[in-house]
Amino acid sequence: MRAEVVKMSADHMDMEAIEKAGRILKEGGLVAFPTETVYGLGGNALDPQASMKIYAAKGRPSDNPLIVHIAEMDRLADIAEQIPEKARLLAEHFWPGPLTMILPKKDAVPGETTGGLDSVAVRFPSDKIAQELIKAAGGFVAAPSANTSGRPSPTKAEHVEEDLGDAIDMIIDGGQVGIGLESTIVDFTEEVPVVLRPGYISLEMLQEILGEVRMDKGLLITDSNVRPKAPGMKYRHYAPKADLTIVEGEEAAVLREINRFAAEAKELGMQVGIIATDETAGKYPAGIVKSIGSREDEDSIGHHLFEVLREFDHCNVCAIYSEAFYTPRIGQAIMNRLLKAAGHKIISVS
Ligand code: TXA
Ligand code: MG
Repeated sequence: MRAEVVKMSADHMDMEAIEKAGRILKEGGLVAFPTETVYGLGGNALDPQASMKIYAAKGRPSDNPLIVHIAEMDRLADIAEQIPEKARLLAEHFWPGPLTMILPKKDAVPGETTGGLDSVAVRFPSDKIAQELIKAAGGFVAAPSANTSGRPSPTKAEHVEEDLGDAIDMIIDGGQVGIGLESTIVDFTEEVPVVLRPGYISLEMLQEILGEVRMDKGLLITDSNVRPKAPGMKYRHYAPKADLTIVEGEEAAVLREINRFAAEAKELGMQVGIIATDETAGKYPAGIVKSIGSREDEDSIGHHLFEVLREFDHCNVCAIYSEAFYTPRIGQAIMNRLLKAAGHKIISVS
């Protein structure tokens, strides 16, 4: 079976195709769709069989829970046993949007969807196509990122086709997504809210509204004895096929080091891939150089990160070197993904 691909935009939605996709989901099938963060692989969240199909299509371990997407605020109470005041406050500020909240689950949500946990991850996306699809499907769509487990998350429908084209029923192509990094996950099952995955909504933005918010210890420490609380964060992820190393430090020192690696590879008749920025791309004489965006516009870096990682899979490179991107607001999210893609290989130069 090859997935049917239907193109549309938020301004010109093909409601017939959305109705059809909704029917596929109601009948237990799988549909990939755009959200403002990354493409999602959707199945009916209340149908245990559909969740099992999602795990199988992605090659994902079934103890790694799925996010349930809603498109109307008042449906939250159907799946969350209890909604703390702080969670309501965050929802008011950031929903619909790139925020996922972990709450105690109601029985209506099957254990298959939550990887056996008694909590449920919920997100109300702002993408209009996603919202219409969720409503057409009955209100609750489980959707992990629509990539094969371990690969970079998809930011274009072509990425979904590449990974899952033979494993699912339909792909809604809504063009390239806006943000390009998965949602910020905040856990409300403990006294103090905890960030389990950094995203477009930064720790500072959360603290401004909630006061005390912690980062999950498993995110801060690379000690493998400290397990991240979001099961998915413990897996190696986002990895391109060639080995990726991050080089951090002053710009001049980083250029010197990466250029040295590039020259060494050239001597051996090979070439490296280089993840640069608009500001530095012209300063690497050897290797395949890709600009990820501009340091003047950190959103452009988040927007292109997964795309650039995927592009290198189609290039003949022996290794990839990337600059580091500790940008002010979403740097934490960008570096979290980049470090995972690099298996935490990072060199500091001065
Ligand atoms: O932006 C996003 O969140 C995208 C789009 C499609 O909405 N979805 C997404 O889903 O990134 P996924 O499955 O790739 O990542 C979900 C993460 C995983 O790390 C998973 O372990 C964690 O959320 N998670 C889900 N339910 C959880 C729960 N009840 N407790 C702790 N972590 C949970
Ligand atoms: Mg994912």
